[in-house]
Amino acid sequence: MTGPTGDVVERATVGFTDQYDAPAAGLWAAPGRVNLIGEHTDYNDGFVLPFALPMRTVVAADRRDDERWTVWSELSGETIDFDADDVAEPGRVTGWGAYVAGVVWALRDAGHAVPGARLAIASDVPLGSGLSSSAALESAVLAALLDLAGLELPAERLPRLAQRAENVYVGAPTGIMDQSAVIRCRVGHALFLDCRDESVEHIPFDLDAAGLTVLVIDSRAPHRHADGEYAARRRSCEAAAEALGVPALRDVTVDQLDAALARLDDTETRRRVRHVVTEDQRVLDTVALLRAGRVRDIGPLLTASHVSMRDDFEITVPEIDTAVEAALSAGALGARMTGGGFGGCVLALVESDRADAVSDAVRAAYAERNYTAPTTVPVLPAPGATRLR
Ligand code: GLA
Repeated sequence: MTGPTGDVVERATVGFTDQYDAPAAGLWAAPGRVNLIGEHTDYNDGFVLPFALPMRTVVAADRRDDERWTVWSELSGETIDFDADDVAEPGRVTGWGAYVAGVVWALRDAGHAVPGARLAIASDVPLGSGLSSSAALESAVLAALLDLAGLELPAERLPRLAQRAENVYVGAPTGIMDQSAVIRCRVGHALFLDCRDESVEHIPFDLDAAGLTVLVIDSRAPHRHADGEYAARRRSCEAAAEALGVPALRDVTVDQLDAALARLDDTETRRRVRHVVTEDQRVLDTVALLRAGRVRDIGPLLTASHVSMRDDFEITVPEIDTAVEAALSAGALGARMTGGGFGGCVLALVESDRADAVSDAVRAAYAERNYTAPTTVPVLPAPGATRLR
């Protein structure tokens, strides 16, 4: 997880001044996220339990008098420019700029007037690691544009706007988890989100007090066919729900699972359904343990989630499985892949005094297999998107 050096707020601030020869009117930030548990449940109307990361995307911005948007990003080092025509319909701006143009489009499509703006973007959220760098970018830009426009929308409406930018403008069929996490998470808490009605409960997740650490291990595995496989999983879940005559797989409970599986004749579909239904239950069980202050006891649920993703949903890759196994062998209380799959990150719940030993064990297992060395970072639940000044 290496990137540009120096403080991210400073980089966005200086980037803005360098680009536009004037100070920004304000600064907005949105974090990356990890999902503690509840994978591929969001688009099945189910439950998720993400928390926000300390790594953030920061946007420095001011208004323009015309309907143009100029955006500089430190990641590409380039400045892009688009106008009202480019956001009249999805798809006209491509590449990273699509996430920014998508937010302008989504706001205008929802009937809001969005002023032209100049933006400078810096980020500590690693790209392509499954930590929601796209949701962080969309949400930071959304927060900036709303303030510049003088629009006050209720926080619970914002995730859908950011998600529409990604689903419709960019064209990625993702669920509501990432944008909800990035926008609605609170420091020291995990966000228990019901993806059907978008109700949330902030669940205390005080790792420090429990003497625990969550290690985020970037597997460094190249994303292999992630987009196509994600869409395929989603289609298969939707088809299964239809075959079972329920609005979404969320409507099948673990008690009904065997009967539901018996009604599906395709073994692959049965595995997909089993993952989603059991994963929803694991989220509920994790929340119950956390509410009871039993943080340590969630470890086995995390590991069971991983096994389900590996064997039933089939979205893990060898690097990811290696990291999970090595972490567990070195004493992690639980470990699982987090995010969409086919690469990305693993999270491991460890006793704080075992964190180094677990990191070393994962690195050693990687070295033995000649995989690109992984990076490991201890994280604590951080705040969601906010205006910095
Ligand atoms: C990606 C998507 C989310 C969610 C996860 C899997 O992160 O953006 O909506 O589906 O995968 O849980």
